[in-house]
Amino acid sequence: MTTGSKRATTETAQTLSMKGAGYYSQRTRGAKNVIDNAASMLFDAVHALPEPLDGQPVRIADFGAADGGTSKKAIRDTVAEIRSRFPDCQIQITYTDLPSNDFSALFRNMLGVAEESKHTYLDEFDDVFVDACGIGFHEQLFPDGSLDLGFSATAMHYLSEKPSEIDHHVHMVGASEPVLEAFTHQAVKDWQNILLARARELRPGGRLVFMNFGKDEDGRYLGNTGGINMFDTFNDLWEQMAVEGKITQEEYINATFPQSYRTKEEFCAPLADTSSPVFAAGLRLVSAHTGVVGCPYRKAYERSNGSMSAREFAISYIPTLRSWSETVFLNALSPDRPLEEKAGLIDHYYQQYEDLVAHNPAGHAMDYVHCYLAIKKTPAQR
Ligand SMILES: C[S@@+](CC[C@H](N)C(=O)[O-])C[C@H]1O[C@@H](n2cnc3c(N)ncnc32)[C@H](O)[C@@H]1O
Repeated sequence: MTTGSKRATTETAQTLSMKGAGYYSQRTRGAKNVIDNAASMLFDAVHALPEPLDGQPVRIADFGAADGGTSKKAIRDTVAEIRSRFPDCQIQITYTDLPSNDFSALFRNMLGVAEESKHTYLDEFDDVFVDACGIGFHEQLFPDGSLDLGFSATAMHYLSEKPSEIDHHVHMVGASEPVLEAFTHQAVKDWQNILLARARELRPGGRLVFMNFGKDEDGRYLGNTGGINMFDTFNDLWEQMAVEGKITQEEYINATFPQSYRTKEEFCAPLADTSSPVFAAGLRLVSAHTGVVGCPYRKAYERSNGSMSAREFAISYIPTLRSWSETVFLNALSPDRPLEEKAGLIDHYYQQYEDLVAHNPAGHAMDYVHCYLAIKKTPAQR
């Protein structure tokens, strides 16, 4: 077990959880599309797994699963692949996230309690067991050599800690030196720790499939694929609230996403460098590529050929941004403010964003930019 120093600090953990009560997966069709579109990577991994040891289940983990809704179909299909390859084998699935995650929503999803998620693979397959772990993925979460397949989508851009606030922007994509360097440095350190933890957990021959937010070869990243830059918009609207005196300057600065977008080279470096501890721990790159998945809300608006109004597009679009960004702005507000006042300010903030998009929808879209990685642990390693 690693020491507590790599644990997400309480303050960082609070600012990065998704909006709870199932809001996350209900409003993030794009994140589900990312996983479903790349599910064949999971099937390839299953086909490459070594035979389970006598009497042992096949163990899968979903790292940073939120409420489990977005990966549910892909995990169901992965279970089907495992079952067809190893018909008699039990299967254990562990959903991991931070302690601040809404695990209750996750288990409701798994049990098909929520109206929109009636179907559950637990009804479909026998001998499949689900549990959860509320400790961050920067640490080792499973005993040595016990995990067959580790999966993660859209989660590992979250840092274990914020190196500092960014005083003139809300995200590292808008940071300048030396703050940018501090975020990059933290991201390199965290990535190595993530990989070393997974190297210890994996069985020899075990596999990892990661779909991580990042920057692609053309400098594109989430919400910045040629139109209006989403993070600049977040910043402009938040700053405007400070200019208008609705929030303080300190509250403006406190809204810093604890995230970093790595490039494909940065993701691959510790796996390719034969002198790195990750390489020594036995992890090897199977494949790496970047890809863009279009914003489903933008696509629906464009497909509507004018039957959808700009306001309707804005109303459909803003909740997907809000599902993962709200906690950053909410937690930037002074703890001295009463809860209703905070809620009012946050509603105002997203209303401003909605009004902006409704006024002129051109260029607004949250396209997803990911680096897709398949990794294996060499059979020679313990
Ligand atoms: C954008 S959501 C992605 C959820 C889901 N995997 C998907 O693809 O839709 C990011 C998730 O990562 C979780 N997360 C962030 N940092 C984490 C950490 N250090 N350990 C585990 N989960 C973390 C967040 O709490 C959140 O649930």
